[in-house]
Amino acid sequence: MIKYLGGALVIGGVLTSILSPEDKAAVRPSKPMAVKGSHSLEEKAALNYRNYCGGCHGEKMDAFVDRQWKHGNTKEDLFKAIKNGYANEGMPAFDSTFTDKEIRELSDYIIKGIKNVDRYGATKKPVSNIFKTEELTIRLDTVAKGMDIPWGMAFLPGEELLVTDRNGKFYKVKKDQSLQAIGGVPEVLAKGQGGLMDVVLDPAFASNKFIYLSYSKFKTEDGKVLATTAILKAKLEGNELKDQQDIFVAKPWSRTQHHYGSRMQFGKDGYLYIAVGERGNEKQNPQEIKGNDLGKIHRIKSDGSIPSDNPFVKTEGAEPSIFTYGNRNPQGMTIHPQTGAIWENEHGPRGGDEINIIQPGKNYGWPIATYGINYNGKIISNISEKEGITAPLHYWIPSIGPSGMAFVTGSRYKGWEGNLLTGSLRFEYLNRSVLKNNKVVKEEILFKNIGRLRDVRMAPDGFMYIAVESPGIVYKLVPVN
Ligand code: HEC
Repeated sequence: MIKYLGGALVIGGVLTSILSPEDKAAVRPSKPMAVKGSHSLEEKAALNYRNYCGGCHGEKMDAFVDRQWKHGNTKEDLFKAIKNGYANEGMPAFDSTFTDKEIRELSDYIIKGIKNVDRYGATKKPVSNIFKTEELTIRLDTVAKGMDIPWGMAFLPGEELLVTDRNGKFYKVKKDQSLQAIGGVPEVLAKGQGGLMDVVLDPAFASNKFIYLSYSKFKTEDGKVLATTAILKAKLEGNELKDQQDIFVAKPWSRTQHHYGSRMQFGKDGYLYIAVGERGNEKQNPQEIKGNDLGKIHRIKSDGSIPSDNPFVKTEGAEPSIFTYGNRNPQGMTIHPQTGAIWENEHGPRGGDEINIIQPGKNYGWPIATYGINYNGKIISNISEKEGITAPLHYWIPSIGPSGMAFVTGSRYKGWEGNLLTGSLRFEYLNRSVLKNNKVVKEEILFKNIGRLRDVRMAPDGFMYIAVESPGIVYKLVPVN
């Protein structure tokens, strides 16, 4: 039995025990700049990598291993990628952060480093499926495998499970753990961060069989591929979708391939809440409510029409589906079991991932107010909190890359009652947040290195389920004595 770490105490947002001294130095530097000074060239490159690249490409360069290089893998190709970036793909430019010499050193560091990654990788993964945590010993039972990136999960009556795979496939997981492909799924743009994403059941699924899928809808205009976040409603008959209909298509379409948002949650009011990311254009989208759906949370009826009490229905020119704005890239959304409030988490830039409670008409601040700094180290905003802007309930520095969100309900998990669980894509663990008066007063890291943790949900059977990526596996959390 292996103990994969207890305590990581966090108060005020800083996860002390998982931070190395370098990371601590990188936490919101007052004048962010590339690492200089009396380090060896390789040490400097390593620190720069950790501070500027690891958040997206993996602390151990995981994303570069066995990779189909899109833009070539020579030193010159890497140099170009780092210096100029690939804005449409979500790769920032670092020409104003590093000198050419520093970029060459970084390129060398990556080329050398990826050869060693496998060695790190093998020892990193947990070797047992039993984890001793502060309150409970948990066994992770495999419920399904064979997906690549299981993005969303929904539980059918009768202990079957629906799982989306970001690559566009959609599965029903049977009780015997076999995967059955579901037909009639819309064509998706499975590129960058897009593809087939979340899935939820209609509150009256048992009688009407309706489900909702969020996905990257695309079209070609003047030879250019444009995509957007869309919501499909369909009837699930056996393993086929029928009567497919888009009930929401976010405007404007964009050439970028990231920040789709895409989580969905039905409220106590029976309306569907939809999170849409700002598609990597923070200057134009999140603060603009006229003709712009991006960087917002929306609230619609299940037929796509607009509830008459939405906050901006009377605002001239505003999109009537908007419920909140100033959101960046929400990747988790759930409903509070007692209050019925909608909670969401969203990715900040470098640092500044947030947990928010969604309230009608509120501005969540992006990019006017943030705890994060830009990927290239530049300050985005010196303001982290401001009048007229709803401050996050909690924020993470450094970014954990939150995804999925679920409250612990029921009585199976002694000591976790009422806690909020959040997946970490970046550090590959499940975060357990203890809440008191809507504040996170303590956090624990669970199942460290389990894999990029994409979704977490509480099932009707009272068990918690998590989905991890590449290889895609769904686990059930079983408390053991
Ligand atoms: C905000 C997230 C983010 C950060 C920060 C970031 N990258 Fe990237 N990078 C991407 C994305 C997205 C791509 C597009 C390719 C892909 O899908 O991975 C990319 C592409 C690349 C490529 C080209 C890969 C190829 O297949 O040709 C290189 C090289 C690269 N990044 C290096 C770096 C380095 C070095 C740093 C740090 C200085 C860095 N990146 C920081 C997101 C990021």
